[in-house]
Amino acid sequence: MKIEPFRLERYFAKHEFSAPYLLCTSDCESMELRDLLSIKPDAQEQFLSLWLGYTESSGDPVLRQAVAALYENITPDHVLVHAGAEEAIFNFMNVALDAGDHVIVHGPCYQSLAEVARSIGAGVSEWRGDPSRNWELDLEVLQARLTPRTKVVVVNFPHNPTGFLPGPEFMHALSALSEQHGFILFSDEVYRGLELDPSDRLPAAADINDRAVSLGVMSKTFGLAGLRIGWISTRNVRIFNDMAAFKDYTTICNSAPSEFLATIALQNAGKIAQRNIRIIHENLDHLDRFFAGHADLFHWYRPKAGSVAFPTLLKGNVDAFCTDLVEKAGVLLLPGTLYNDSSNAFRVGFGRKNVPDILQKLDTYLKKNTV
Ligand SMILES: Cc1ncc(COP(=O)(O)O)c(C=O)c1O
Repeated sequence: MKIEPFRLERYFAKHEFSAPYLLCTSDCESMELRDLLSIKPDAQEQFLSLWLGYTESSGDPVLRQAVAALYENITPDHVLVHAGAEEAIFNFMNVALDAGDHVIVHGPCYQSLAEVARSIGAGVSEWRGDPSRNWELDLEVLQARLTPRTKVVVVNFPHNPTGFLPGPEFMHALSALSEQHGFILFSDEVYRGLELDPSDRLPAAADINDRAVSLGVMSKTFGLAGLRIGWISTRNVRIFNDMAAFKDYTTICNSAPSEFLATIALQNAGKIAQRNIRIIHENLDHLDRFFAGHADLFHWYRPKAGSVAFPTLLKGNVDAFCTDLVEKAGVLLLPGTLYNDSSNAFRVGFGRKNVPDILQKLDTYLKKNTV
């Protein structure tokens, strides 16, 4: 198998552990092991006596129960646990697609959502949000792109990198189109649960469509990226069984300590997500003020959900800007060109507590340097 380098992940591999001020991460604030264990009485003792043998390939039943509780119409039997969302994307594309199939992907996208399909020999079309309308998607554009060979449509709400979140009627219309046409809806929902107003939360695709696949993970909403626990939820028996069998060639089963810790976190999902939404709320207020003070240089809009947004640099070149910024001030932004985007935008991430301090560093840089 030949696959193109993952541009965004290569960029992080270069900078994430050397640049001191990360202003583009997509995960939420993490926590120490002791803090997670302190959420549940006896958890520390249970953790120390955990058996470190192989685990159940589809995921620990108690963890699958905790995942299922995040959905309306999903039972533990519909949940297949993976090593992060990334393994689930890889495995899904490999079982759902053959060379010559057609896939439509919500763009600009987290690269693996398109790249794995391409590496299998599928034709990939982009269904791009409209930057002049805060990256809104148009269902008529999707309809025009559908062909008899279209097997999968990939969406990502709340969206990385733009923060776009449609209304529930959009999700229902998309699901109806999937029924009508026959494509499988692969819905990357890794930022679901990070809506500033809970009434904006979209129904999960797997809840409203019995062939759709919903993707979730511990990294974003729950801030526990280092656990490397993700999952798919689906009532599509064929996809579920094929993915379960494919996993025998990738990870076989998950890390027992990670499954144990993810279970504690998900049994307290609301509490942990609320803590992260509070951080996001505060950070967005800081970002609003920061961008209002630099309206000549940036176009900013405040997303309704998620931990990333995609403001535009109005002067100069975004690649040169990001390079100079990290070299001179140690502040890391993510140029949109890593998403194959040419709108001179960059990703900003606001799920971590240090965002206000880093914004001050960015402000100081802008005062000293001309863009
Ligand atoms: C939209 C989207 N999907 C999937 C992933 C992969 O998540 P993980 O790294 O936790 O496997 C990410 C990570 O940034 C993402 O932004």
